[in-house]
Amino acid sequence: MSQKKRPFIVGVGGTTRAGSSTEKALRISLAAAEAQGAEVDLIAGPELDLPMYNPSTPARAPGAERLLSLLRRCDGVILASPAYHGSISGLMKNTLDYVADMQEDDRVYFDGVAVGLIATAGGWQGAVQTLATMRSIVHALRGWPTPMGAALNSALPLFDANGQCTDLSSKFQLETVGQQVMQFCRMCSTPMPSVMPNSSAQSV
Ligand SMILES: Cc1cc2nc3c(=O)[nH]c(=O)nc-3n(C[C@H](O)[C@H](O)[C@H](O)COP(=O)(O)O)c2cc1C
Repeated sequence: MSQKKRPFIVGVGGTTRAGSSTEKALRISLAAAEAQGAEVDLIAGPELDLPMYNPSTPARAPGAERLLSLLRRCDGVILASPAYHGSISGLMKNTLDYVADMQEDDRVYFDGVAVGLIATAGGWQGAVQTLATMRSIVHALRGWPTPMGAALNSALPLFDANGQCTDLSSKFQLETVGQQVMQFCRMCSTPMPSVMPNSSAQSV
């Protein structure tokens, strides 16, 4: 009997602070995907502290090589960023700029890839604005943002000492993000042929 390959979902996000609320949120979405049968991996916290992306130099730091290797083999992605001054953090923007190295791949950027999104902020406006910005970036990278995005207000008590989400609305959003990434992976278990040209670096 043939065994179906488990979808591979990679989580990318957090802040330079290990165990940040953004990273805790990301872990909950990843766990929800894992509960649906995904193989998962995570790049978070200090691992995101990569050199400023430079498109002119091909040399990449080991952390950037690992990021690109996981993004190239994944079936789905979950991104988590804090709101910094009304937008995504510089750390996350720099991380996503490395996706430009995938412009000549057979699968350009996130073409045909489900991308779950999580934004945390010290207030609702920052969370929602950051989520909208992340959706724009994912569209530019040809990805498919899931219908549910998680907007979390970290000024409220959200997590217990074990990192479990104690706020029911936030927990529902985070778990739905992970589940919808898996739902999309299952819908696309036969890889979708791209309808976009891959000869151009244009991200539209
Ligand atoms: C430099 C900086 C800028 C921030 N800007 C905003 C902002 O514009 N709006 C907002 O709601 N929260 C803002 N915050 C708060 C963070 O978004 C919030 O603490 C977030 O949940 C990150 O928490 P974490 O480090 O525990 O993941 C800012 C925090 C920092 C450090």
